[in-house]
Amino acid sequence: MSTAKKEYKRITVKSLQEMKSNGERISMLTSYDYTMAKIVDRAGIDVILVGDSASNVMAGHETTLPITLEQMIYHASSVIRAIKRSLVVVDLPFGTYQSDPKEALRSAIRIMKESGAHAVKLEGGKEIKESIKRILHAGIPVMGHLGLTPQSIYKFGTYTVRAKEEEEAEKLKADAKMLEKAGCFAVVLEKVPAKLAKEVAESISIPVIGIGAGNGVDGQVLVVQDMLGMTHEFHPRFLRRYLNLYDEMSNAFKQYNTDVKSRDFPNDEEQY
Ligand code: KIV
Repeated sequence: MSTAKKEYKRITVKSLQEMKSNGERISMLTSYDYTMAKIVDRAGIDVILVGDSASNVMAGHETTLPITLEQMIYHASSVIRAIKRSLVVVDLPFGTYQSDPKEALRSAIRIMKESGAHAVKLEGGKEIKESIKRILHAGIPVMGHLGLTPQSIYKFGTYTVRAKEEEEAEKLKADAKMLEKAGCFAVVLEKVPAKLAKEVAESISIPVIGIGAGNGVDGQVLVVQDMLGMTHEFHPRFLRRYLNLYDEMSNAFKQYNTDVKSRDFPNDEEQY
């Protein structure tokens, strides 16, 4: 493993492959809008995921299921306008790729054409193999997503750790191999035991990006509002909070409210 860190002007799927080969960890965060994406990009984060978690975080839905292709394209276009360096990956939303490979390709093409994104992400293993292959054949880079796949929440019933039992772990390992063989450029592993995630990362040549998957994988992803402490009611074990923005923003809003009501704002310097 080399320790020399290569400078990348623009992150491509090839850069991520190089990072894995060189033992350099890959950083990934979500963004759904221009202002946030600009800050994330300029901070040097390698990959920006326009996740369908926008359904929860931006729209307030309980699950990721309701978000539409049009809404994902809107979020992705806003993010793309902010980007100079990061690779932008966009989730194909629930219902736009599961029924047949042709529909999957049509959905992926719409995302790429209408938003200018660089790659798409799909949840699932061998069940969606043909859809993944069809999209890849069109020259669109695909990121896989295994383990806890939130679009299947009603099948699982809960958001608890996946693949703790042998049978599910074996399926996950086989699915990861299938994604590699099909030609995916990376795979997200969500909420699986760290030992299993490490084993998967060591068994395939493409980067494995973890969320709640321990430190033995090739990179990490978090939802940006979670790591900034804006979603203060959400506190899974895997989440590291870098700020407590919920409290800081709340205090700022309260102060503004007080200043407006007391006529302190605007003062003489804050007017024309
Ligand atoms: O939608 C999302 O934010 C995701 C990440 C949790 C990986 O898929």
